[in-house]
Amino acid sequence: FSAHVYYNIMKDNGFPLTEDEKMLYGEFKKDFIWSSATASYQIEGAWRADGKGLSIWDKFTHTPGKIFEHDTGDIACNSYNKMEDDIAALKKVKVSHYRFSISWPRVLPDGTTKYINQAGLNYYQKLLDALLAANIEPQVTLYHWDLPQALQDVGGWENETIIERFRDYADVLFKNLGPKVKLWITFNEPYIITVLGHVQGAHAPGFNDRPDTLPYIVSHNIIKAHAEAWHVYNDKYRASQNGMVSITVNSDWAEPRNPYKQEDYEAARNVVEFYLGWYAHPIFNGDYSPLVKKSVLEQSLAGGLPKSRLPEFTPEEIKRINGTYDYFGLNHYCSVLAFPVDFGDTQHFEADRGVVVISDRTWLETGSSWLRMTPFGLRRLLKFIKDEYRNPPIIITENGVSENGPVDLNDVHRIYFYEKYINQVLKAYLLDGVNMIGYTAWSLLDNLEWAVGYTERFGLFYVNRTDPDLPRTPKASVSFYSSLISCNGFPD
Ligand code: NOJ
Repeated sequence: FSAHVYYNIMKDNGFPLTEDEKMLYGEFKKDFIWSSATASYQIEGAWRADGKGLSIWDKFTHTPGKIFEHDTGDIACNSYNKMEDDIAALKKVKVSHYRFSISWPRVLPDGTTKYINQAGLNYYQKLLDALLAANIEPQVTLYHWDLPQALQDVGGWENETIIERFRDYADVLFKNLGPKVKLWITFNEPYIITVLGHVQGAHAPGFNDRPDTLPYIVSHNIIKAHAEAWHVYNDKYRASQNGMVSITVNSDWAEPRNPYKQEDYEAARNVVEFYLGWYAHPIFNGDYSPLVKKSVLEQSLAGGLPKSRLPEFTPEEIKRINGTYDYFGLNHYCSVLAFPVDFGDTQHFEADRGVVVISDRTWLETGSSWLRMTPFGLRRLLKFIKDEYRNPPIIITENGVSENGPVDLNDVHRIYFYEKYINQVLKAYLLDGVNMIGYTAWSLLDNLEWAVGYTERFGLFYVNRTDPDLPRTPKASVSFYSSLISCNGFPD
């Protein structure tokens, strides 16, 4: 089964293909970044090895009731001890880049630079050397959610001293690892950190008691911390290291539920502007967007507050944050249908955007309840970014699909997903003039999918958890993705 077969059946039956469904043939630009991604807590294991401090995820997974089937990242894929296997897997896929993240408490056990754990740095040095020896360029994320617990104990992202802590941590990494790294990501998915970690409580640190104010404070500090890290690089390391530093934001694409209703278009716009724009607008355009400001203000006043619960940036801060990017990092998985509602509950976080989102039941399901296959939305989102943020170079830093249930290495759904989504990226590049410079498949390995544990498997490689050696076995999608890479797209 391949998407081609499906198209041919459609053609033979005489159904005209829509623009969304038609395949486009062509190639990406030379030196296009072809990558696959992981994150420290999801794969490393070795949670107490060689002086590593505890992270909020160590604590969270060890708290009863938080993670499906009490799974933890104590061992995960044991990548801390299986570096060679991971490199072999990357070589098999033939990626040009590998995206991984640094565990902050492995390098700075209490989160501060008072004590630098050399063993932790050595591990990442070794990984970088092994990658470069294999001709694979690193793409390094500073923060993929495993905050040192010691910093959480003093307020975590809510306490604005975290901005300095993050800046100092970034400085340590740039200084020690920077000579070998050309691509950096400060934060992975600030929206998820904020909303799942500090509104819904489904992710560490697990807060859900102040859904009206906490998300805005947390996000405000993350944006400032990102900007400080970017400035450290810009001021101290750019001249000698010549790399790129940015943030990775995630966003669904939203379509109007009813295409004949103007208010559904507005609702769809609100979704993307809140999701992506919350972070991208201050960083790419300066300050929060007028729409976000207006919505939060209205809801705050309606709730009896004297002013908006959205914190304000000072004019100096706006200047300092604006332009702190070298490319646009995007994680994208799926689309939703949006329509407006009156929540009548001004303390509800969702009330600030006044929108509800649903899925279309005809969209193909995957192994994750929140993810249905909607390739068309990726092209539209990329075009939105081009128009909204003055055509920045874009790297898709994550895109991928899961399965759950019985193991089947013939992962046709993943081949289908990658073919359709990556083809939409090609359309964005060739037809819409979007400045695409890279694509990253999530994930290299089946790994700890946060609150749902090991049940949802996003890997190109299957990791057999019943074997204590945790062997990696390629799924069928490995040869598919690797041939796409060798062809640099879909040549005619
Ligand atoms: C987003 C996150 O960055 C990653 O950690 C997660 O596993 C994937 N999406 C899939 O949900």
